[in-house]
Amino acid sequence: MSDGDVMEKLVSLCKRKGFVFQSSEIYGGLNGCWDYGPLGVELLRNVKEAWWRSMTYREDVEGIDAAILMHPRTWEASGHVEGFTDPMVEDRKTNERFRLDHLLEEAGVDCTGLGLEEMTAKMAEVGLKSPKGNELGEARHFNLMFKTHVGPVEDSASVVYLRPETAQGIFVNFLNVQQAMRQKLPFGIAQIGKAFRNEINTKNFLFRTREFEQMEMQYFVAPGEEERWLDYWKEQRWTWITEGLGIAESRLRWREHGGGELAHYARAAFDIQFEFPFGWDEMEGIHHRGQYDLGRHEEYSGKQLKYFDDQSRQKVLPAVIETSAGASRQTMMVLTNAYAEEEVRGDRRTVMRFHPRIAPLKAAILPLVKRDGMPEIARRLEAELRPHLRVAYDEGGAIGRRYRRMDEVGTPFCITVDSDTLQDGTVTLRERDSMEQDRVPGSDLLAEIRRRMDLWRHPES
Ligand code: GAP
Repeated sequence: MSDGDVMEKLVSLCKRKGFVFQSSEIYGGLNGCWDYGPLGVELLRNVKEAWWRSMTYREDVEGIDAAILMHPRTWEASGHVEGFTDPMVEDRKTNERFRLDHLLEEAGVDCTGLGLEEMTAKMAEVGLKSPKGNELGEARHFNLMFKTHVGPVEDSASVVYLRPETAQGIFVNFLNVQQAMRQKLPFGIAQIGKAFRNEINTKNFLFRTREFEQMEMQYFVAPGEEERWLDYWKEQRWTWITEGLGIAESRLRWREHGGGELAHYARAAFDIQFEFPFGWDEMEGIHHRGQYDLGRHEEYSGKQLKYFDDQSRQKVLPAVIETSAGASRQTMMVLTNAYAEEEVRGDRRTVMRFHPRIAPLKAAILPLVKRDGMPEIARRLEAELRPHLRVAYDEGGAIGRRYRRMDEVGTPFCITVDSDTLQDGTVTLRERDSMEQDRVPGSDLLAEIRRRMDLWRHPES
């Protein structure tokens, strides 16, 4: 199966099974926007919930939920008004716009560290044309922030931006949180929320979209302690992705940003890359932002954002180590990592090998036949499990077909009520990955499922 096939099959499965739909599909869709269906929203919520627990259920990290719309000066201070741009070129004939660095890279030019002028020179050097073979216009910077207006008058004084990252809501609240929670350095603030970028080209399904969710944490440390915390958070994030999300280590790697490609705020940056069907690409970044952000907000707001250190009796401007992940991009990684097709006794099955903790449905309860009191027992088991786990009930069709349906949406456990259940109260517990079946007392089901969920490892790990 080629990588292109995998993408096509994944997108098709996502639609067919209610994971992800094209946004406003009946109107032809809106580029770069997607809707999460019943199983997709559960999967996304499970990813976010697992992140939230691992990042904020600890003494040194507090959570917040800041507004999407912020004072416009925020984005001047952060450097986004001036510097949050991508290099863009336009097809002179069709007026379609493209990311210049992407076109150059497709033409075999390595754009790492190149500025707009250097890329313009490369355009001429390789005789770059648009994907339709037409002449290209002049290269220019394109700001990725969406603009809108607050209040009834649409003038320059009312301009606000849809936030392109959640981080700034954290920086401007640094002292509020520190003082309210009586935190001491080092400590972090975490947030999950929507971010918006007017990407020139959206592509690869949920990977690069115009509306997406971020899961960010800014860890404030005393200057001089950055390296130690950078290493610490790199290790934490890697462990969470492999153990928390169940991603196969063989599909993950680190990539350090070279000096020329660092974002305007960063002193050092490390991406965790995942091997998507279209190649290795960034999935999460761990950044050393130094004192850039708090320093700039002090300058632009005229307010002090220094931390008072009780011991030294001095005020210090903390430095920041950031962990920044896209919830939607991680969900795409989880979907890609889970997708598998395999031969089973002459039959072909598609199986989504989600980590059971992340899987949208944890178990399906299936009466073998629709008689002899089996549906009633199955419904009773369902009622017992439902307050604790997201479960499904299915009594339609041959048992093999029902197992396949559950494999395809990644349900890790199937519980079958059969004639033995009528005799001794045991049920068949079938595991999605191995397809092995064991008999388990109906009364032990919840504990047994929880035990197996904790033991789960991705088969390729
Ligand atoms: N606060 C730093 C920051 O926003 P970034 O590298 O621009 O850094 C962080 O973005 C993460 O957000 C990325 O690693 C990716 O997971 C996600 N992300 C960024 N742009 C995205 C887009 N257009 N669509 C989906 N996810 C995106």
